[in-house]
Formats: sequence, structure tokens, C-alpha cells
Amino acid sequence: MRIDNRKVGLIGTGMVGMSYAYSMLNQNACEELVLIDLDKKRAEGEAMDLNHGLAFSGSHMKIYAGEYEDCADADIVAICAGVAQKPGETRLDLLKRNREVFRSIIEPVTASGFSGIFLVATNPVDVMTRVTCDLSGFPPERVIGTGTALDTARLRYMLGETLRVDPRNIHAYVIGEHGDSEFVPWSQAMFATRSIEEIVAGDESPIRMEDLERISEEVRESAYRIIEAKRATYYGIGMAMTRITRALFGNENSVLTVSALLNGEYGQRGVFAGVPCILNQNGVRRVLELDLTDTEWEKLAESCEILRESYRGLE
Ligand code: 2OP
Repeated sequence: MRIDNRKVGLIGTGMVGMSYAYSMLNQNACEELVLIDLDKKRAEGEAMDLNHGLAFSGSHMKIYAGEYEDCADADIVAICAGVAQKPGETRLDLLKRNREVFRSIIEPVTASGFSGIFLVATNPVDVMTRVTCDLSGFPPERVIGTGTALDTARLRYMLGETLRVDPRNIHAYVIGEHGDSEFVPWSQAMFATRSIEEIVAGDESPIRMEDLERISEEVRESAYRIIEAKRATYYGIGMAMTRITRALFGNENSVLTVSALLNGEYGQRGVFAGVPCILNQNGVRRVLELDLTDTEWEKLAESCEILRESYRGLE
């Protein structure tokens, strides 16, 4: 991975892809960004629009609409493309259609000679990340899904608001499927050096265990609520993607809850799920194993089983 000319190939210039592009530009997070879409005209329009803002951004980013061949020397290929659910369509049918979309993307990207890191945001993200790993034949540490990175950010935001503390000092994670079976292992949640469970058990605590349950529920419902209000979610996920990208380019060894292949961790194998991972320029350096309680361990196993089930439906 180069750090002098960090290049990202972005596939899919819908709202999610463009929110990522916009936040990459504002954070000056790479030197070159190529926008790729089946609708070339749209990608060209988006490139023009962002380029016209360059002078205000303090960035010298080179932004242009391109082709799959332009991924040859990219360090990261971010995939935000996918089809939307049709009325009456099952999740599995949607998954099948998205796999075909991914086939039409990943084959030409790998044929270009691309040898960087895939970052997948298309939903259902854990399954689509596994599909990307299968289709590309890339080593799993170089195939990363956004997983529960955004859910974790939502959790920290809500806990920060409730406890009136800086969310950056909250170490708490949402793990499992990015979806209905995700959960918060509260036994592992900390504010600075104190366990959140310990805080809520204290006499002086402004919040109780029920509040924690309400917060995890609200995190899980966030996407539904946003979709109901404005049809889609995009800024949050775009910023989560930028955060992951920065951890990779910066060789940060930061911990983020991305979708990664479990290979024995948490007693799981052969499934991609959102878990805390150390990320650096090589991708996933390591999956961190949280010290889960028995109940949390079971919840994660159930969530992984749901993901396996969806994947099996594709076979
Ligand atoms: C989100 O959680 C829908 O995955 C999207 O915002």
C-alpha cells in the first residue's frame, strides 16, 4: 500500500458511494479517487461536482470518472453498488441479484490486476463481503466489510449523550450481523477505565440497566427509523467507510468493528461478521476476541448462524 499516492476505486456512485467520496474529499483521505458506475454519465457528473468544490477543501485530490481497468493500481476498491429490494421481493432473492451484480464487478476488477484491499458496504454487508472474498479469491485479511462499524458509532454517540461524556472515551462495541441479530456485549463496555455495568449499578448513576437495553434497541432500529424518515441512510455509512479507509492508509493498527472472516475466533469458522479488528495497511491484522459471557457468546453464535443461513441460500 502506497502512502505517497493513495488511490481508491469507488464502485457505485449512489448516495452511499457519494457520501463516502464527499467525506474522503473533506478529510483529504487519499490522493486519487476514481468513480466507477454502470451509468458513466452519472459518475462523470459526480466527479465534476466534487471537483468544483476542490478549491474550498484544501485538498489536491485527483477525482475522475473511470473504468474497471483504473483499479489496477488502486490501493483500495470500495464497493457501494447494488440493487434495491423490489416490492414483494424476499431478502434471499435480493441477495441473489446482488451476487450477480458483484460478479459483474469483481471479475473485471481482479482482471485489471488489482491487488489491494476490498472494502464492501453493500447490504446485507456481511454476506456480500463473504461473496467478495469468494469471487475475488483474495486472502480474507484483504476483504473487509463495513460490518458493525456504524452501529458501534451509533452506540457510542447514544451512550455519550446519555452519560454526558465524550463518545471517544467510550469503548463499547456492537457485534455480529449488521442487522437484526446484532447486539452489544455489555460486559465488555467501558467508559474510560470503568465498566459501564459497574457505572449503572452505582447509587449515583443517572442511568439503569433498562436504559442500556433501550439504547441497544435504538441502535438496532436506527437504520429503520432513518429509512422511514428519509428513505435511505448514507452520511453515517459514508463516514464509517472513510474512518476504515484512514485506518488502512495510516497503518494505524486501530480497532474498528468491521466484517471479517472468523477463523476459530469465538468458536466460529468460515463466516464474516462484525467483530473488533485491528486494521493496518495490510487489512485485518487480527480479530480481537472479547471476553464474552456465556449468554453473549451464544448470542454471537446465533447471529453467525443467521449469516450462514443466508449464505447457504445462495448455494
Ligand atoms: C445503516 O445501518 C442501512 O446499513 C444501513 O445505516
